[in-house]
Amino acid sequence: MPLITFIHPDGTVQKVEGQAGDTILKIALDSGVPMEHACGGNGFCTTCMCDIGKGMDSLSPRNDREENMGVMDDPKRLSCQAKVSGDIEVKLLDV
Ligand code: FES
Repeated sequence: MPLITFIHPDGTVQKVEGQAGDTILKIALDSGVPMEHACGGNGFCTTCMCDIGKGMDSLSPRNDREENMGVMDDPKRLSCQAKVSGDIEVKLLDV
């Protein structure tokens, strides 16, 4: 199972295992990692945006919803759209 390392804005590190094919947001919420998701994970806000510290190639490619929201450049991803296939490091943004 992919290992997801969440780094909180205050520097706290939280490591959880997730199911391959799940989104970063689903893994976070299932594991009790707080993550904003104002549009319910539908790719229509940007409150779930995060920075990927490591493992960008262990995520699904950017999709239309991320491109429509202007989330085009590394290391930014929408957590509700990026599906995990391997180990990654996620930096949570202060919102
Ligand atoms: S929760 Fe709104 S874009 Fe991800």
